[in-house]
Amino acid sequence: MGDHYEVVASKYDASWELSADYQHWVTQKIIMGLGLSSEDTMIDLGAGTGVFAEKIIQDSELTDLWCIEPSEEMSKKAKLRGLSVHSGTLDSFLALNEESFSKILMKEMIHHIADTSNTFLKIYSKILAEGKVLIVTRPQVTEFPFFKSAADTFYKSQPDYKIYTDQLEKVGFRVNVKTESYRLKLPSEQWYTMLRNRFMSNLSEHSAEEIEAGIKTLKHESTSDFYDFNDNLIFIFAEL
Ligand SMILES: C[S@@+](CC[C@H](N)C(=O)[O-])C[C@H]1O[C@@H](n2cnc3c(N)ncnc32)[C@H](O)[C@@H]1O
Repeated sequence: MGDHYEVVASKYDASWELSADYQHWVTQKIIMGLGLSSEDTMIDLGAGTGVFAEKIIQDSELTDLWCIEPSEEMSKKAKLRGLSVHSGTLDSFLALNEESFSKILMKEMIHHIADTSNTFLKIYSKILAEGKVLIVTRPQVTEFPFFKSAADTFYKSQPDYKIYTDQLEKVGFRVNVKTESYRLKLPSEQWYTMLRNRFMSNLSEHSAEEIEAGIKTLKHESTSDFYDFNDNLIFIFAEL
């Protein structure tokens, strides 16, 4: 991953304004899925710029939310939103906080964790008995209209989600999986800008020249001014 998130922090939020209600749709799935209430204490692990954490607080009764974010540039943006942010790792956060939490969110960050088994063990010890963990991730084969080499790097960057469900069950969680799809219709130029802005971390493996060459291929193959596809998200719920 290198310094991917340090580089993309300034463009991150704009890249995810995919349509008028995309962020609202995802936020509602998280709020309803976790059953968030004013009683909850929550961690958003790998919260990024806090764009979703902010919406979760705005659209639910939750007030007690800690964002944990290791990238300095991303966490700076989250702090500017007025969120409670720990600029560091889960380990450094847990070293400072002894309390347990009722909800833990890990949205589109699990593929960056090298030792997920170990992370799940730590989370298991920090979740309250009635609590719930939600991992939001993507399938390895995506409908995103990537050029071929980007589809390949995406595949390699996203482990099969069943690895996570197996590990969670081994640690002692009861696991439930749901796939949710959002239909996107993006003007072609918006999609090309997202590719150039490396809106997904696999794109940091491609040089600017490779991305331009990829966009040229996409333009050549395209028969429309829009890309119409599903964003498929996997919601993994884990409970005690
Ligand atoms: C694709 S972004 C997702 C950000 C946010 N959850 C969202 O959905 O907008 C992935 C985030 O995970 C963070 N991250 C990477 N490795 C991490 C780790 N080991 N622990 C916590 N966060 C990590 C990155 O810095 C980045 O901000």
